[in-house]
Amino acid sequence: MKAIEIRNKYLNYFKNHGHAVIPSAPLIPENDPSVLFTTAGMQPLVPYLLGEKHPEGTRLTDYQKCVRTNDIEEVGDNRHLTYFEMLGNWSLGDYFKEESIQMSYEFLTKELEIPAEKLSVTCFAGDEDCERDSISAEVWKKVGIPEERIYFYGKDDNWWIAGEEGPCGPDTEMFYDTGKPACSEDCQPSCDCGKYVEIWNNVFMEYFKDKNGYSKLEKKNVDTGLGLERMTMLLQGKETPYDTEIFLPIMQKLQQLQKIDDIESRRIIAEHLRSSMMIIADGGRPSNLDRGYVLRRLIRRMIRHFNKLQINAEELSTLIEINVENLKEMYPDLETKKETIKEVILEEKDKFIKTLTNGEREFEKEIKKIQQEGGNKKIAGEIVFRLYDTYGFPPEVTQELAKENGYEVDLKEFDELFKKHQEKSRMGSEQKFKGGLAETTEETIAYHTATHLLNSALKQVIGKDAHQRGSNITADRMRFDFNCDHKLTDEEKKAVEDLVNQWIQDGLEVTKQEMKKEEAISSGAECMFIEKYPDIVTVYSIGNISKELCGGPHVKNTKELGTFKIKKEESSSSGIRRIKAVLIRD
Ligand code: ALA
Repeated sequence: MKAIEIRNKYLNYFKNHGHAVIPSAPLIPENDPSVLFTTAGMQPLVPYLLGEKHPEGTRLTDYQKCVRTNDIEEVGDNRHLTYFEMLGNWSLGDYFKEESIQMSYEFLTKELEIPAEKLSVTCFAGDEDCERDSISAEVWKKVGIPEERIYFYGKDDNWWIAGEEGPCGPDTEMFYDTGKPACSEDCQPSCDCGKYVEIWNNVFMEYFKDKNGYSKLEKKNVDTGLGLERMTMLLQGKETPYDTEIFLPIMQKLQQLQKIDDIESRRIIAEHLRSSMMIIADGGRPSNLDRGYVLRRLIRRMIRHFNKLQINAEELSTLIEINVENLKEMYPDLETKKETIKEVILEEKDKFIKTLTNGEREFEKEIKKIQQEGGNKKIAGEIVFRLYDTYGFPPEVTQELAKENGYEVDLKEFDELFKKHQEKSRMGSEQKFKGGLAETTEETIAYHTATHLLNSALKQVIGKDAHQRGSNITADRMRFDFNCDHKLTDEEKKAVEDLVNQWIQDGLEVTKQEMKKEEAISSGAECMFIEKYPDIVTVYSIGNISKELCGGPHVKNTKELGTFKIKKEESSSSGIRRIKAVLIRD
């Protein structure tokens, strides 16, 4: 079965079981620069998992484009991917463990025709904070999984939370037995020898975790995730996702083009190319910051491996064409945005090739220095790292060049420095993930409502064409980007501040309405990217001064906001201004 057939079967199955099929959210989370990429199907649904009413109802299903970047360096092995597609179904206070497990079992065994003997499952064993999930185990027995294939594990394995705080709960995971021999008598799903592969995770979200510990959510939700590439690989009896139709055309072309044979390099190119194309199609652009830097790294790592295989990087154009042809049925955006994707990748390639040239020059300088000093013929790891970190110059290339010149490099020292650096960036991205999701607090909700007020005030003070171009909220402040051709004067800033504070004092009610997207637009509701919304949308109104398409959550009345104060007004980029503001609350 091809990937797209699995996706269609999934969405149809859940549609037939009362679920609304909702569109995949973009890979780049809207209005939330604090999160790098969408990393799970539940991420865009957090407000609804916390109790907001979803306009499409209490049963949802979708395929979600995801990028996880913590393991970029692992890509090239037989399983890690940066981009993947997650199929998911959600119950928002609707069905719970029993129906969720029944549907998963039926989908796997009837729709995908996986023999029941190949399935093992795991459930949460319970601990001092949260009870053992015997109910799920009972349901599994009832549907037909024998007791000896039901395992219980602790929070490390059978508990799911995005980041450190937020909605969470015990999960039950389904494993596929590949038929490989057991590595030991003790071999079980938690073992990563490759015999058991996790295929689906059903999270029973009934808790909320914060600094003070666990509390029960008002409603019990179900959040599930099934990795499409992995399922495709297993159903096709393949060893890696690269052997499925998702990657095969690129893998084969690379094999044709390469002068040096290296499967890891082929995989890295195939994976990073797909991932970069998906990120660019959703609006990502290479830069030296955050998500832009991730994209830059993906493209640069790919070019390095072109060098390794001795393939001319000009072939990128052809490879992009092949991917568009191969993947356009799954992702029509790749075809409509093909030219942009090509431009962005090719421009980044040219920049990187220049970087490589600069790196070579630096390398030669270092060699001269060593020669003058007349020391041993070893290049310090610290130099290799500097070439890598400052010039983006790959250590393998340094090593190769060193060898040609009769030198060695201290890779051990390089590795140590590199590990330190990796640890730092890993911590950075975990922090970001946490920042984006965990912080649906009283403060962030207040800032969210203040954002709408600021948006309206700017329209009154600057002009009705001043539109929101971005926003970022933390518990301590808000940031708001908008288009405007000049630096705000002190009078303008004061007028904006006064208006927002007036509205806060007026105690305007915040109300919510669901309506058809077209209706919302014709009623004059403000929104950033209309095409990204489902057919039925939520519109938040504040008194009669603001009306915006938005997922919430918001305060009930503006008087909850405190006092609004602009801290800074500055340029963000060409034609875009940025306001930083705070709410002073008692
Ligand atoms: N949110 C769950 C996961 O990502 C389903 O595994």
